[in-house]
Order: sequence, then C-alpha cells, then structure tokens
Amino acid sequence: MPANPFHDRDIVSIKDFSKDDLEFIFDATDKVSQLRPSQRGELGKGRALGYIFYEPSTRTRMSFEAAMASLGGSSIGISDLKSSSVEKGESLADTIRVIDLYSDVIVLRHPMDGSSRYAAELSQNPIINAGSGSEEHPTQALLDLYTMLKEKKKIDGLSIAIIGDLKYGRTVYSLLYGLTNYDVDIHLVSPPSLQVRKESIYEVQGKLKITEHAELEDGALSDVDVIYVTRIQRERFPDLQEYEKVRGTYMIDEKTLAKAKPDVSIMHPLPRLDEISQNVDHTKNATYFKQASYGKELRAALLALMLNENITH
Ligand code: NCD
Repeated sequence: MPANPFHDRDIVSIKDFSKDDLEFIFDATDKVSQLRPSQRGELGKGRALGYIFYEPSTRTRMSFEAAMASLGGSSIGISDLKSSSVEKGESLADTIRVIDLYSDVIVLRHPMDGSSRYAAELSQNPIINAGSGSEEHPTQALLDLYTMLKEKKKIDGLSIAIIGDLKYGRTVYSLLYGLTNYDVDIHLVSPPSLQVRKESIYEVQGKLKITEHAELEDGALSDVDVIYVTRIQRERFPDLQEYEKVRGTYMIDEKTLAKAKPDVSIMHPLPRLDEISQNVDHTKNATYFKQASYGKELRAALLALMLNENITH
C-alpha cells in the first residue's frame, strides 16, 4: 500500500490532493466501513476532535462527531458562538490556538474565504476546512465523489449536471476542482447572475468539458448520469432583492425525472429547500440521504488516516 498522504495533513483545499490521494481515501473508506466495531474503535481511541462552527451546520458537524465516536474518539467543540468567548470578541487566531491545545484535529467552518488556510498556519494539529466562505468545502467534495463512485461504479466517463447557485455554493467549487482529476462532461445550470465565478472557470477550463446553460433544458438533462442540485445561498447575497429574483428558479420533480435517464442519480449536499420536490424522495433516483450517510463513512476514514499513519493491522 502506498504511503498515507493524509497523515497529519491539513485538509484546506481539495486542490492540495492528487487523483492517487483521492483514490487512496476512497479505498480507505471501503476498508474502514468494513471493519468490525472493535477494530474501528481502536483508530481514534484516546484522541479528541475539536470543532468550531461560525456558521450553521447539521450534517457536517454531526457526521464528524459520529465518525469520531465510531473510531473510539471524542469530540469537543463550539457550535453556538453566543455561548463562547467569540461573543466577547475573541479573535479567530486566539480561538484556534486554544482549541489546538485541547484536541488532536480541528474542524473549522467560517464565513471568510481563506479562514482555514489561516487557521492551518496557526495550529500545530491538522485543520479540516468544513466550509470557508463561498470558497471551498473539501470534505463535502470527497464524499460527493465517493457517492458517485459507489452509485455509478465509476467517475471517469460520467456526465454530470450541476445546478443552482454556482456563484456562492462552496460545495460546487470543491466538487469542480476534485472532478478535474477525472474525464467527465460537466453541464453547469444556473441563472446568469449565479454562474460559476470567472476565475474558477479559467482554472478548470481545459481540464473539464464544460457547457453552461440557463435552463435545465434537454441538453443538460436527458444525457446526464448525475444531477447535483444546490441551494440558493441566501445568506451570501449582498442584496436580498437579488435573492428574491432567483429563488425557486429550479425545481426537480417527477416531470424532470421523466425527461432524464431512468437511472439518473439526484444528489444534493443538503439542506434542501424547495429545489427538489419531496415526491422525488421515494424514487430510486434520490441519492441525497445516502450521500449524507456516505459522508459519515468518508469522514471516519479521513480522520482515521489523519490520526494514524497506517490503518491496516
Ligand atoms: C453545504 C454548505 O454548508 O456549504 N452544506 C453542507 O455542508 N452539506 C451546502 C449548503 O449550505 O447549501
């Protein structure tokens, strides 16, 4: 087995990892998922995950906690800033320095781009970026890619539509950067005001076959294997009137499914508002809750690799 590229490493951007690294973690996720609870419970024994979420979270925080518990470790952290010294004005730098003293790995979500890179410079222990502004959310992309691999049995050769708020959705950026390691067709579907930011398009152009659409019309629908839906990121709009203009632009429902490939996988990082009809939930195409479940497994493997040089006995 090649050397573990995740041991003691910061997970700030998915761009820091090669295709071999991505495959290494997908294999590790399969392995860790199959371990007996007693073996799995050795991988994080006596270790602590420290977290701080400056923005709301359900899945990311809970899946990291559940993952750490499954490895026999514990989690300590702050998700309600009002009950922490952040409320008194403590800086991000001081907060990170202190969490660093109490834990072996730190999970950070913060509204500013660059926040995780900055935290990684300050902390001795590795930082995991759990969302930095509208910049990146690398572990979400890892679990998104793992979900595609599990559900479609491959990533190379897939045709993927990414739809919704492509301007502010940080999961979109990490996913696009991660997908540059593969041979995939990408259809970007968004209102003109919410297209992928130009500097990122320049970065991925040439590495990905990209077509941009304003409508989820047939070209972006009938041939795709995966439809990755995102929420319009209301909290990132400088002007809420602009949000009102684009909210509810897309809705995936049974009519959409009828025009798509019968085995299309509908993915969503969640939370979902009204962009996927609840009528889709019971179809075989709905993959979003499975995706959240793969998230726990992938994060368990990631933590195991970060905390242990070798996870096979
Ligand atoms: C996403 C996020 O925080 O970027 N949530 C998540 O971690 N699954 C997506 C979103 O908030 O829309």
